[in-house]
Amino acid sequence: NKISLIGVPTDVGAGHRGSSMGPEALRVAGITQMLEGMGLEVHDMGNLHGPANPFTAPKDGYRHLNEVIQWNQLAHDAIYAELKRGHLPIMLGGDHCLGAGSISAVARYCREQGKELRIIWLDAHTDFNTAEITPSGNMHGMPVACLFGHGPKELVEMSGQVPALAAKNIYQIGIRSVDEGEKQFIHQAGINVFDMRYIDEVGMRQTMEKALAGLNDNVHLHVSFDVDFLDPEIAPGVGTTVRGGPNYREAQLCMEMIADTGRMASLDIVELNPALDVRNLTANIAVELVESLFGKNTLVRP
Ligand code: ARG
Ligand code: MN
Ligand code: MN
Ligand code: MN
Repeated sequence: NKISLIGVPTDVGAGHRGSSMGPEALRVAGITQMLEGMGLEVHDMGNLHGPANPFTAPKDGYRHLNEVIQWNQLAHDAIYAELKRGHLPIMLGGDHCLGAGSISAVARYCREQGKELRIIWLDAHTDFNTAEITPSGNMHGMPVACLFGHGPKELVEMSGQVPALAAKNIYQIGIRSVDEGEKQFIHQAGINVFDMRYIDEVGMRQTMEKALAGLNDNVHLHVSFDVDFLDPEIAPGVGTTVRGGPNYREAQLCMEMIADTGRMASLDIVELNPALDVRNLTANIAVELVESLFGKNTLVRP
């Protein structure tokens, strides 16, 4: 399997500056060497180049709308090109507004190939806000709503089909911060949300068994890994920390169970913010977890 790394250095969708340094922090943490060590062929495509962060106030419910659209179009085009040539794209974010462009590319590709799509969305947040209900205007809180047809036209239509996703295509894991309006809206959309209470009650194993049930050869599995999924005690280097996330072992099990399916065909790593990190700890942990996502095992298993 050939892997393509695509750096998308944005923080235009976030309320804090710094996730634009995420791609380089992941490289410094050795993501390429780790993947090569697992026998994979890695093509680092470098970083995409887009508009700077003007750091202005939200306008009509959106902060940096034009910049967010431009960066998402660039990410969409780059990821689609890598999928087309049969590579497994890993988007090195960048903030999570890029989920709209990245997943639009994957949805477009799956539609053309006649593949089923399943997204595993690992996050503290549902990212289902709109301009009307957002408390912040930050567009990293909106990509899932865009993929469900709610948001600016340019993002909503990016995959070539509106909506890009249906409820059956996505499972959200680790959720523990949902805004008031967002709570109603995500409920209406009927999305499968496994929040932290659910994980507390049934455990990570049963949660992932449910999220990964019914996969077959024709499923393209996409993982959107927002690093704030992790408990801030192990992953402080993110802008929007929320206490009470999966610990190191729970996160490892989650990644290992995804790897066991053998179906992962694209990945986003987003929201890593080196400006808030401690000696690149969070980048290092992210790389260790991605190693499990690509099938690292302690033992030979049946
Ligand atoms: N729900 C909050 C908002 O919309 C936080 C979103 C955080 N999203 C993220 N990808 N870190 O402002
Ligand atoms: Mn923020
Ligand atoms: Mn997110
Ligand atoms: Mn998040």
